[in-house]
Amino acid sequence: MLTVTNLTKRFGGFTALNEVSFEVNEGEILGLIGPNGSGKTTAFNCISGALRPSSGSITFQGREIAGLTPDAVCHLGIARTFQIPRPFRKLSIVENVAVAAHYGAAERTGEAEARRRAAKILDLVGLPADPEASPMLLGAGGLKKLELARALATGPRLLLADESLGGLDPAEMAGAAEMLKRVRRELEVTIVWVEHIMATLMRIVDRVVVLDHGEKIAEGAPREVAEDPRVVEAYLGEKIVLA
Ligand SMILES: Nc1ncnc2c1ncn2[C@@H]1O[C@H](COP(=O)(O)OP(=O)(O)O)[C@@H](O)[C@H]1O
Ligand SMILES: [Mg+2]
Repeated sequence: MLTVTNLTKRFGGFTALNEVSFEVNEGEILGLIGPNGSGKTTAFNCISGALRPSSGSITFQGREIAGLTPDAVCHLGIARTFQIPRPFRKLSIVENVAVAAHYGAAERTGEAEARRRAAKILDLVGLPADPEASPMLLGAGGLKKLELARALATGPRLLLADESLGGLDPAEMAGAAEMLKRVRRELEVTIVWVEHIMATLMRIVDRVVVLDHGEKIAEGAPREVAEDPRVVEAYLGEKIVLA
């Protein structure tokens, strides 16, 4: 579905991504992991059009998308979440999601249809707060779910989720992992998931790609990758415990 080939991103003299290549298969949940600063968010920024790659190719469903603007990428069917949610403060929770449904979808919807879709997505991500309330009343976990709902409301074929479960406690985390699986099933969306909480991520993903200092150092099934010496070293010997 998505093919990233020799993706390189430099910021001045600093290389944040160095010739990174990987594929995302339709229907899978791919985990993208790596220590802080390894280039995960930069990869999402390049794919989603927030940053222009220095070099390399990104094809989505056979079409080159490197260098397209974020709105064009979104309309082609790729949505991303941001690590730090920034909802429209003066809109309600449901309005925040309806805006995404209205402007982010390939075809514009009317307001009533956008609201209807927004309500359905809020239900799917399990955001139980009053949809007419202000997003400013949400805690960290609620804001992450709202961020996810806004991305999903655009009707993506591919979701790039950047630390979408950060700020959740362990119990919420387990529920949220199930929620992501439900999202994949009901919306038939392929997911690339960046997450720090390794035990949860490894239980859910089909495959993992590991970045370190802007380079891909491993790729494969969760169990293989967790035992890979280069991966263990990148995480400074911290053992990745699989449940
Ligand atoms: N816009 C930017 N300008 C300069 N350096 C950046 C920019 N964005 C990211 N970086 C640097 O690139 C590296 C990778 O960052 P990032 O992709 O955010 O890592 P991760 O998401 O894996 O923690 C870091 O060293 C970061 O400081
Ligand atoms: Mg990041």
